[in-house]
Amino acid sequence: MNTIICGLQWGDEGKGKIVDFLTEKADLVVRGQGGNNAGHTVIAKGEKYVLHLIPSGILWEKQCVIGNGVVLDPVGLCKEIQTLEEAGVTISPEHLLISDRAHVVLPYHRELDAAREMSLGDKKIGTTKRGIGPTYADKANRIGLRLADFRNPETARALITTRLEEANRLLSELGLETFEVDQVLSEVESSIDRLRPHFANVIPMVHGSWKNGETILFEGAQGTFLDIDFGTYPFVTSSNTTSGGACTGSGLPPHAIDRVVGVCKAYTTRVGSGPFPAQNDEIAEFFHSRGMEFGATTGRPRRCGWLDTVLIRYAVMVNGVTDLAVTILDGLDERETIKICVGYNINGEVHEFPPAEREYWDQIVPIYQEMPGWKTDTTQCRTWDELPARAKDYLLRIEELTGAPVKYVGVGPGREQTIIR
Ligand code: GDP
Ligand code: IMO
Ligand code: MG
Repeated sequence: MNTIICGLQWGDEGKGKIVDFLTEKADLVVRGQGGNNAGHTVIAKGEKYVLHLIPSGILWEKQCVIGNGVVLDPVGLCKEIQTLEEAGVTISPEHLLISDRAHVVLPYHRELDAAREMSLGDKKIGTTKRGIGPTYADKANRIGLRLADFRNPETARALITTRLEEANRLLSELGLETFEVDQVLSEVESSIDRLRPHFANVIPMVHGSWKNGETILFEGAQGTFLDIDFGTYPFVTSSNTTSGGACTGSGLPPHAIDRVVGVCKAYTTRVGSGPFPAQNDEIAEFFHSRGMEFGATTGRPRRCGWLDTVLIRYAVMVNGVTDLAVTILDGLDERETIKICVGYNINGEVHEFPPAEREYWDQIVPIYQEMPGWKTDTTQCRTWDELPARAKDYLLRIEELTGAPVKYVGVGPGREQTIIR
């Protein structure tokens, strides 16, 4: 049974926790897109881990794969490996293989990311400044470097030299520091060398695992509304974060996939700029005052709002969600009443799906349904039946509005705080 786990909102839905929960019964965990813009939190046996590039399955010491669709920052990955090793997690090539077709994030990509953000002023995307956009742009422009290009140092040197001609022109136009090829190579060399034993043509291994009937999990990063095609463009990331990205990013075909678990919070959050119709400052204050909803990668406070089922309904369609995982239900435990956005009013017209026109996003008046809160601590609940009746009503209403069945419910950040229905 091969499963894609993907986010249905703007990222940070709790994908890491759900992947960790499902990994116990998996053989292989694969990341197919994104880079270290992701921050997946797992709390296992009381310890907190934040994973950026390494699949969350590593904590179970399962075989993990970073696929071709990921953009890989070698320096960032080495730091992540070091942090995990210091925490006692084993990361040998048997545990972690990296596709040699993955594109490499180089220091000038981070610089170009920051430079573009700066030049956008108040129209900035609010990126994580990890160089993700420029690295995917180089891939699409056919001027990127893949890990395989570092097998022969002369190949890497020649490619970087050519790439720097244009990158340096742009940086100097902006009055920023330019790069020398030696400087770029020396910044990444030791990290690339450290990672070399992990580089592999992973396709035969992943296909072998599939053919042997092993269980594969695909760990999505970001969320549907950060998808370059389906998100709130241009306020998106630069990859396909929806389920299709798992196939193109790993080399496994669509018919290898048996189910798609869509993860959504019981409310909505977003980091960075861009539209957010159901945003609500009072709820943001409610979470922030409890130390919740600060970004796992950049530490920025997340914007917060009510659950928006216009978004989830659309996300269920484009991802082909077979099972919903609703996380952080416990986050609403203390609320007197809870609102759900059920439609958008745009200039007097009711819309059940998100619009493509960028100017419409600012004109959306959310249509809310209000439900009574359950005012009960759910963090100790371990079965569906133990959940308060009003919490179940809320979850059933989500099913009704989105067209997907709720299969998992999160009632706390810990591994054991996941209810299977
Ligand atoms: P991801 O990027 O989708 O993996 O999510 P993040 O790790 O960035 O953000 C989710 C946050 O919610 C993390 O701090 C998790 O520990 C936490 N979390 C996940 N599921 C639950 C839950 O059911 N209840 C509570 N209270 N916290 C949760
Ligand atoms: P996980 O996997 C939340 C957001 C950034 C910014 C936009 C573009 O933890 O859910 P980028 O650096 O990718 O070019 O930034 O996307 N973003 C995320 N927001 N969770 C993430 O990942 C994100 N990865 C990128 O804040 O708005
Ligand atoms: Mg995150």
